[in-house]
Amino acid sequence: MGKLLIKNAKVLVGTHPVGVTHVAGEAMGVLPQLENGWLYAEDGRIVELGAGVPPATYNETSTVIVDAAGGYVLPGWCDPHTHTVFAASREGEFVDRINGLSYQEIAAKGGGIINSAMRLRAMPEDELYNLAKARLETMMRQGSVAVEIKSGYGLDVDSELKMLRIVKRLKAALPLQIKATLLAAHAIPPEFKENRTGYLDLIVNTIIPKVAKEGLAEFVDCFCETNYFTVPEMERVLAAGAEHGLVGKVHVNQFTSIGGIQAALMRGAQSVDHLEVMEPADITALAEAHAAQVHPIYPTLLPSCSFFLRIPYGPAREMINAGLPVALATDFNPGTTPSGNMNLVVSLACIQLRMLPEEAINAATLNAAAAMSLSGELGSITVGKRASFIITKPVPSLAYLPYAFGNDHIHNVIIDGNVI
Ligand code: NIG
Ligand code: FE
Repeated sequence: MGKLLIKNAKVLVGTHPVGVTHVAGEAMGVLPQLENGWLYAEDGRIVELGAGVPPATYNETSTVIVDAAGGYVLPGWCDPHTHTVFAASREGEFVDRINGLSYQEIAAKGGGIINSAMRLRAMPEDELYNLAKARLETMMRQGSVAVEIKSGYGLDVDSELKMLRIVKRLKAALPLQIKATLLAAHAIPPEFKENRTGYLDLIVNTIIPKVAKEGLAEFVDCFCETNYFTVPEMERVLAAGAEHGLVGKVHVNQFTSIGGIQAALMRGAQSVDHLEVMEPADITALAEAHAAQVHPIYPTLLPSCSFFLRIPYGPAREMINAGLPVALATDFNPGTTPSGNMNLVVSLACIQLRMLPEEAINAATLNAAAAMSLSGELGSITVGKRASFIITKPVPSLAYLPYAFGNDHIHNVIIDGNVI
């Protein structure tokens, strides 16, 4: 790896000081910016940044010089919640929903997660790997420099391990940062339909220990929801995960509020994701847990899932007003969000969640990195962090990026000092 100089940035965005791990509440609106900026990186890490003309010493012949040509330079997007490994798209269900069926009704007639599991079990590992790799390459071109990927379409020992081994191969093959999450508790597989406890036993006694032993995941997840997993079942999964060093990162409050947030907090979860259906007590529980600082907790909103399913949007404003560090993610998956595009997520956060552009960008960079334990590495333009950026085309302002939704504003993506 070599030397990189980016010059002529209209603005370096998200130049948070060293040591800032996340922003919460009112501070989410503060997005530090350096006008007319340059930055120098070596071996994939940011060494120095400044305004005006870069020091001549950084202009050596061995340095790769990138002229931002008046574009904005942002920290690359971090996407802390995806299901990027899957076998097939599910546009049949999409048409079913246009015809009036709900996500739950489609699941009840054999569609949904079980549909994806049957197809994934049948597909050879290499084929799944190639599909996921191509999706991640698209996501990198769209500015994502770190992505969390869940299992959860295997729902048996071999297929869950197959998914996580694919994630391990993707980590080795691609330049972006990837974190793996075990989501065996995504749905009860058909063979355990009459024996849910048997499936929970399998997760706790076999799948979690095997995954931990092979070092295949950093996090453990559970779809805690009416008709999926109960609160006590999620607690059992989180407790078993914790025993094996897997930190909780859970699906809660997507369709119903059943106490999943409170239980996840008690069990030390690092992020609670979805949060489309929130009671005031849910927000209070999060705010109190955040204020107590026992462990970091990132409420992670997935507005492109709300958009696609036409379900409520998470109450971002209430959560920010309550002092919370909101994060954003795509939820890329074939059923509820067939898009891994963080640019759209940032636009929807502004348009539908009423987050200010500064808040949405902080949520999609620094807080999103923190939600997957990467904010020491990524999420801001800070000396010592990875040199992973988005360079935009010339645009009139920062707010123009989420405003002109659906347009491609990205000129270049740089990951660890290399132009993608
Ligand atoms: O995050 N809600 C649970 N899991 C996914 C959807 C999975 C699917 O429908 O395949 C989600 O939306
Ligand atoms: Fe999800």
